Amino acid sequence: MLQGMEKLYDHNFIARQVRRLGEEIDRDFAGRDLLLVGVLKGAFIFFADLVRAVSVPMQVDFVRLASYGLHTQSSGLVEFRKDMELSVAGRHLLIVDDILDSGYTLEALCEHLGGRGPASLKTCVLLDKREGRQTAFEADYVGISLERGFVVGYGLDFQESCRNLADIYLCDPERSI
Ligand code: IMP
Ligand code: MG
Repeated sequence: MLQGMEKLYDHNFIARQVRRLGEEIDRDFAGRDLLLVGVLKGAFIFFADLVRAVSVPMQVDFVRLASYGLHTQSSGLVEFRKDMELSVAGRHLLIVDDILDSGYTLEALCEHLGGRGPASLKTCVLLDKREGRQTAFEADYVGISLERGFVVGYGLDFQESCRNLADIYLCDPERSI
């Protein structure tokens, strides 16, 4: 099952980056009405760890988006499958996603939620894939930057598999599974 996969970031390294992000968020959002929005499904493990690394008062909500289908390249078409349940107006929103790649997903989501009148809107990603960018989008908080490659584990999938792996692996879709 791990054929064609190379371990890239182990869970201890990931945990250190998550703790650092939590400290940055604590510092920047102290005294603000913080609402963290997790992007399902890929961010579910990162989100669960990140909220516990943040100690300022906050609430959580989720959206579900899909842009990839079963391919490893973004289609550029972002499909909204589940909306938020809490109201956004006047709140300090921090959108949390697993990976920033082309930028289509977060760009579309920020436009969508930005239209609902939040007090502020920021984004946090675990991984920033620099070379994949097709838009001018940049995240405000970045856990780890990498140049290229398709990665799985720690919530990230290849064709819905591998989300349960504790570490993050570089995956060669030609050879895996
Ligand atoms: P973007 O719209 O191209 O920025 O794609 C972002 C979304 O594509 C992320 O939220 C991930 O769900 C998915 N994605 C991008 N790269 C990878 C990867 O290397 N592994 C798993 N999912 C990925
Ligand atoms: Mg995603």
